[in-house]
Amino acid sequence: MERGVVSIRDVARRAAVSVGTVSNVLNRPELVSAARRESVRRAITELGFVPNESARHLRRGHGRTIGLVVLDVANPFFTDVARGVEDAANAAGLVVILCNSNEDRAREAGYLDVLEEQRVQGVLLTPVDGGAARLARLRERGIPVVLLDQRAPRKEFCSVSVDDRLGGQLAVGHLIDAGHRRIAFVGGPRSLRQVTDRHAGALAALRAADVTPTALVDVDTPSLNVAGGRDAVARILGMPAARRPTAVFCANDLLALGVLQELTRQRVAVPGRMAIVGYDDIEFASAAAVPLSSVRQPRDQLGRTAAELLVDEVRGADHQHRQVVFKPELVVRESS
Ligand code: RIB
Repeated sequence: MERGVVSIRDVARRAAVSVGTVSNVLNRPELVSAARRESVRRAITELGFVPNESARHLRRGHGRTIGLVVLDVANPFFTDVARGVEDAANAAGLVVILCNSNEDRAREAGYLDVLEEQRVQGVLLTPVDGGAARLARLRERGIPVVLLDQRAPRKEFCSVSVDDRLGGQLAVGHLIDAGHRRIAFVGGPRSLRQVTDRHAGALAALRAADVTPTALVDVDTPSLNVAGGRDAVARILGMPAARRPTAVFCANDLLALGVLQELTRQRVAVPGRMAIVGYDDIEFASAAAVPLSSVRQPRDQLGRTAAELLVDEVRGADHQHRQVVFKPELVVRESS
C-alpha cells in the first residue's frame, strides 16, 4: 500500500479476493456471493478505501470494447495473435481496439491513457518493458489488464506467454547437435523479456552440452525487424575467420528473414556456410527462399486465451488470476 493511498488491490488482499471481485462488489454486487460482498465491504470500511469514481464509470463503461496494445503491428506474429484475440472477443460480444506501441514506452503510455478515456472494459498488453507501476495504475482505475506474450511479474495479473527460455534452448540445442560451436545470437533490445529469456535459453543449451558460453556471439539490434537482421550480417561476416560464427539464432523470424536476405545477396550459402534458426514460425518462415527453421509459438492460442482470461476478469463473478505459459516447439527446415 503506498503511504496514505488505499488501492483496490489493498482491499482485495485484505478481503482475500481478486481485484475483479472487489470491482464487481463496487459496480455489480449482484454478481458476488453475499459472504464475499460482506468481507469486501468490511475491508473497505477497515481500510477507509474510497472508490475512484472514474474507475466506477470505467468499469460500467458503456463501450463494448477492449484494447490490445502490441509491440509491432508490422510483425506477423502480432497480427496472428490479434486474430485469436478478435475471435474470442467477438464471441463475447466485444470489439477490439488495436494499438501499436512500436516498442516505444511513450507511445505505449499514450495509448493506455486513450484506452482509459475510452472506458474500455479491459486491456491486453505486450509491455515495452516490465512497467509494473503502469500496470498498477491501470488496475487501480479498475481496468483489468492481461499481459500478453510476457509472464506477469506478480500474481495479481493474468498473463499468457510462452516459455521463451525453453525456446532458446531448443533452437541452440539443435544447432549444437548439428555440430556448430560458434553461434551468433541476433536479438533485439535487451529491455524485452522475450529477448533476454531466449538468450538465457541459448546459454542453457551450451551449458547442457558442456560447450563454453563464449561459443555464443551476441549481435544486438535496435529492433526486431528485417532491417535489423540485414544489418547484423555485416557485423557477423566482418568478424575474424577464427571467431566467425557458422550458425545464427535470431530472436524472431523477421530478424532471421533479414539475415537470410543479406546472406543470399552476398552469396553466402545457407545452411552450407551459415545455418539459421528463427523464432515464431510465422507463415513467411516456411515460404522463404530457403525455408527457415524456427521455434513455433502458438499464436492464435496465445491471443484467444488472453482474451478469454480478460473477459472472465471483466465479467467473472469470482475470477481467479492465472499465469498461463505455453510450450514452444522447434520446427526444423532447410535453413539449418
Ligand atoms: O516482439 C518481438 C517478438 O516477441 C515477436 O517476434 C515474438 O517473438 C514476441 O514473442
